Amino acid sequence: MAHSEPVALITGAAKRVGAACAQHLHGLGWSVIIHYSHSQADAEALVAQLNGQRSNSAIAIAANLSALSEVMSLAQQASTCFGRVDTLINNASSFYPTPIGQTTEADWQDLFASNAQAPFFLAQALTPMLRQSPQASVVNLIDIHARFPLANHTVYCMAKAALEAMTRSLAKELAPEVRVNGVAPGVIAWPEGAGSMSAEQQADILASVPLGREGGVDAIAETVAFLVQGSRYVSGQIIAVDGGRSVWG
Ligand SMILES: NC(=O)c1ccc[n+]([C@@H]2O[C@H](COP(=O)([O-])OP(=O)(O)OC[C@H]3O[C@@H](n4cnc5c(N)ncnc54)[C@H](OP(=O)(O)O)[C@@H]3O)[C@@H](O)[C@H]2O)c1
Repeated sequence: MAHSEPVALITGAAKRVGAACAQHLHGLGWSVIIHYSHSQADAEALVAQLNGQRSNSAIAIAANLSALSEVMSLAQQASTCFGRVDTLINNASSFYPTPIGQTTEADWQDLFASNAQAPFFLAQALTPMLRQSPQASVVNLIDIHARFPLANHTVYCMAKAALEAMTRSLAKELAPEVRVNGVAPGVIAWPEGAGSMSAEQQADILASVPLGREGGVDAIAETVAFLVQGSRYVSGQIIAVDGGRSVWG
C-alpha cells in the first residue's frame, strides 16, 4: 500500500535551513527524506526526533552530491524508501570565495556540482515519480547573489544563476504536472566553515538590509512550505526572502 503522507526529499537537510524545512513540512503532515553528506549525527538525530513524533515519517540518506553516481543513487533510494516523492527541495550547497587568480578547476566543479548539477539530475531522475503526484513541486534554494553579485564569489554566483535558469526552464518543461519555483535567501544564517565571515563583514552586510537583521531559518522554511503546498497556481517564480535587501541596490 502506498505511503499515506506526501513525501519531500530535502537535500542538505541535517542542519540549518534544510533541517528547518524538514521540521516545518513534517509539522504540516509530510514525511521527509533527509539527505546529508558529512553531517550523519545531526541527520540521524533529526530523523529520530521526527519519527518520535510520528512513526515511519522520516528517513536519512547519505550522498556526496559532487559525484553524479551518488546523485543517481540518492534519487533511486528516495524513490523506493516510501514508494512516493511529491516534492524535491534542492537545498544542499557549497559556498566559499573563488577570487580571480586563485580559483581551481576543482573549486569550479565542486560549486557547480552541488548548486546546479545535482539539482538538475535529481529533478530529471525524479520527474516520472513526481508526475504521479497530484501536488508535485520542485523548490530550489537559490540566492539573491545569483542576480546581485557577491564580491570574490563569482563561481558560486554563476552556479546559483544556473539554478535560477533551471527553475524557470523546468517550470515550462515539467508543466502541467509539476510546479517548479525558487527561494532566493538574503542574510538568513551566517555561513560556517570555509565561507565564514568576520564580525566586520557581517555588520557591513546588515547595513544594507532594510529590515536590519538576519532572517533566521524559519523565514525560509515558511516560504518553502508556501511554495510546496500553499501556492497551487504559482510556477516559475523566485521569491526573495531577504529583508528587502534586493531593492536596496
Ligand atoms: N544561510 C544563508 O543565509 C543563505 C543565504 C543565501 C542563500 N542560501 C542558500 O540556502 C540554502 C541553505 O543554506 P544553508 O546556509 O543552510 O546551507 P549550508 O549550511 O551552507 O549547506 C547545507 C548543506 O549542504 C550540504 N552540502 C554541501 N555540499 C555538498 C555536497 N557536495 N554533497 C552533499 N551535500 C552537500 C551540507 O551537508 P552535510 O553537512 O551533511 O555535509 C550542508 O550541511 C543553500 O542552497 C544556500 O546557498 C543561504
